[in-house]
Parts: sequence; C-alpha cells; structure tokens
Amino acid sequence: MPHSVRGVVARAKGEPVTVEMIQVPDPGPGEVLVAVQACGVCHTDLHYREGAINDEFPFLLGHEASGIVEEVGEGVTNVAPGDFVILNWRAVCGECRSCLRGRPWYCFATHNATQKMTLDGVELSPALGIGAFAEKTLVHSGQATKVDPAARPEVAGLIGCGVMAGLGAAMNTGNVGRGDSVAVFGCGGVGDAAIAGSHLAGAHTIIAVDLDDRKLEIALEFGATHTINSSKEDPVEAIRTLTEGNGVDVAIEAIGLPVTYEQAFYARDLAGTVVLVGVPNPEMRIELPMIEVFGRGGTLKSSWYGDCLPSRDFPMLIDLYLQGRLDLDRFVSETISIDEVEEAFHAMERGEVLRSVVVL
Ligand SMILES: NC(=O)c1ccc[n+]([C@@H]2O[C@H](COP(=O)([O-])OP(=O)(O)OC[C@H]3O[C@@H](n4cnc5c(N)ncnc54)[C@H](O)[C@@H]3O)[C@@H](O)[C@H]2O)c1
Ligand SMILES: [Zn+2]
Ligand SMILES: [Zn+2]
Repeated sequence: MPHSVRGVVARAKGEPVTVEMIQVPDPGPGEVLVAVQACGVCHTDLHYREGAINDEFPFLLGHEASGIVEEVGEGVTNVAPGDFVILNWRAVCGECRSCLRGRPWYCFATHNATQKMTLDGVELSPALGIGAFAEKTLVHSGQATKVDPAARPEVAGLIGCGVMAGLGAAMNTGNVGRGDSVAVFGCGGVGDAAIAGSHLAGAHTIIAVDLDDRKLEIALEFGATHTINSSKEDPVEAIRTLTEGNGVDVAIEAIGLPVTYEQAFYARDLAGTVVLVGVPNPEMRIELPMIEVFGRGGTLKSSWYGDCLPSRDFPMLIDLYLQGRLDLDRFVSETISIDEVEEAFHAMERGEVLRSVVVL
C-alpha cells in the first residue's frame, strides 16, 4: 500500500512552494522507506525552486534530513527498521569509472530509489534524489547511513548536505592542514561549516568574508580568526594584509557568484588552492587573465558534497559532535513546521538564519 503523506512541492519556476498530499510507494528491492524526523532548509532547495538546477518540475524539496527507517525492501542489509539514519545524495555504485579507479567520492552513477513518489499521478523529482520535506520518503538503501541515535535529529540531518559540503570542502577538497591559512567567502551554513572544518583541521588563520555583520559574528563562534565585511572593504586587499602580503593557502567560495569566485582566485597565495562549493546558475560566467591562472600555479577545484563518503564520514562527524568537538547545535537557527518552508526561504534571503530546520 502506498503511503499518503504531506510533502513540500515546487510546482513551477519561482512560484511559492506548497504543502501537498503525495504518494510514497512501499520499498521495492534495494529501497528504504524513512519516516523523516528533521530536514534542514538548504540554499540548494531554493535554487531548485528558482529553476536554477534544472526544469524537471514538480520538485519534492528537502534533502538535509535524518529519520527512522520504517521499512526496507528485498535485499537491504545495511539498515533495518528502527535504525536512526542520515540521508545522503551520494550512494556510491562501486562500478563506475571513478569507483573503479578508487575514487568513490566522485562516483558518476550514484543510486537513487527506482520507484517514483507522485503527486496526483505525476512523478515528482526529489531534490538531489531525496525529497525529505515530507513525513516519509523513499530512498535507495545506500542513501541511508546509520548513525548514533544519541544525536538530535535536527542536528544530525544537517550533516546530510550543507554541513558536510562545507566541512568537506575544507578538509577533503581543500586538504586544509595544520598551520594553513584559509579564507571562506560566504558565511551561511555551508561557509560556516568550512570554517569549522578548517578549525578542526588545524588551520592557523581563518578569514571569514561576508556582506552581513551578523553572519561574521557567528563565523567567529565557528573558529574564524578574522572577519572582513566585503561591502565595506576590498576583501582581496584585506586578506593580503592579514597574510603578510601573500594571500591564503586555501580560498573557499561558498556562495556561487562570479564576483566572489574572482575574489577567492586573487586572494590566494602562489600555489594555493581555490575551492568552489557555492553553486552557480547556468548563465554565470567568469573571466580571468589566463596568465594569472598559469602564473599563480596551484589548484582550482570544485567540491561536490565536500568529496565525502557518507558511510565513512557521517558516523565519524556525529561522534565528534557527541564528544563536544564539533558544534553542530549552533547551525540550527530555528526549528519550523513543514508549512513554513516558503517563509524559511525568505528568512534565508534576508540573511537571518544559518539553518531553519523542519521538524516532523
Ligand atoms: N557543492 C555542494 O555540494 C553544495 C552543498 C550544499 C550547498 N551548496 C551551495 O553553497 C552555497 C551556500 O549555501 P548556504 O546554504 O550556506 O547559503 P546561505 O544563503 O545561507 O549563505 C550564503 C552567504 O553568502 C553571503 N553572501 C551573499 N552574497 C555575497 C557576496 N557578494 N559577498 C560576500 N558574501 C555574500 C550571504 O550573506 C550569506 O551569509 C549555495 O550556493 C548552495 O547551493 C553547495
Ligand atoms: Zn560509482
Ligand atoms: Zn543542500
């Protein structure tokens, strides 16, 4: 019997989201039905609503979630009913070119549920293959990672996207290490996680850049050693001044704009690394003098999901949280009901929150 549950749907580009009754099938082979407990509002949900990711409307939004496994399909062995899980959008296949080269975090053929959730008979496109602003959701078994149930659901869910993306952008993609200098452009949930990750990894100088002083204040709590309000001063100059004229070893762009990508590019030291974790829209262009790309050396990288492996990283990060070494509570600005996602988008746009988290 399919399950009728409430879910947050984006029906058309730019239109406010609505809560609808959707149909969620029973899990088939390799699938898992999860009773969602909490799901964070990530900027990527808003990108979907704006049509900036693709135009496969209607979308079932939400992808930063934790919950309890309710039912498993045939052949599922990694989780069982009653398990507390974080959902992920990187269920690695183990068979693609990248997995076979020993780089599963770049997996080119990640798994999602085979069956579709529907709205009035129309197939829904779940955001990032998850769709968790819903009382229940259907995912591939590899998309459910079991973690210690001692962690609060609204905190654990955040590991499922933004926090992992930011932590991993610093620790995995940027390979930040002890003594490094780092600049993070954009201090939302993702940027602050990059700051927290740089701090955990032992960075010496961590420079937070944002347009909003409220965000910069919070960035200090996550481990930023300096802040720059780039509406008031040139961030490239300011970063040079803070690094003996050199620039930073790792510059992380966590907004997704050409202007801040260029700032990150020029704020980096010779042979340094630029990490793009912010998501651009398809129209955006960057123009850089090729001689600068060549002459500065180093590495320009993009970071999808912090180059994480959920099965390796999620339980470890939850353990660090439970040991008091990673402050995930601070990311939860407010908890809201499933009816308040549209308002949460506006709060995000107004810069009032790091994360609004829907609690079910
Ligand atoms: N690569 C990935 O795997 C991944 C995963 C999750 C989210 N993201 C992306 O990361 C980005 C950030 O997500 P978020 O949820 O933290 O968003 P957010 O809206 O909460 O944070 C963005 C921050 O950037 C600041 N900002 C905006 N314009 C700026 C500018 N010109 N200069 C300096 N600061 C500026 C804002 O004040 C805000 O604090 C989004 O593009 C999102 O889609 C990427
Ligand atoms: Zn693969
Ligand atoms: Zn996200």
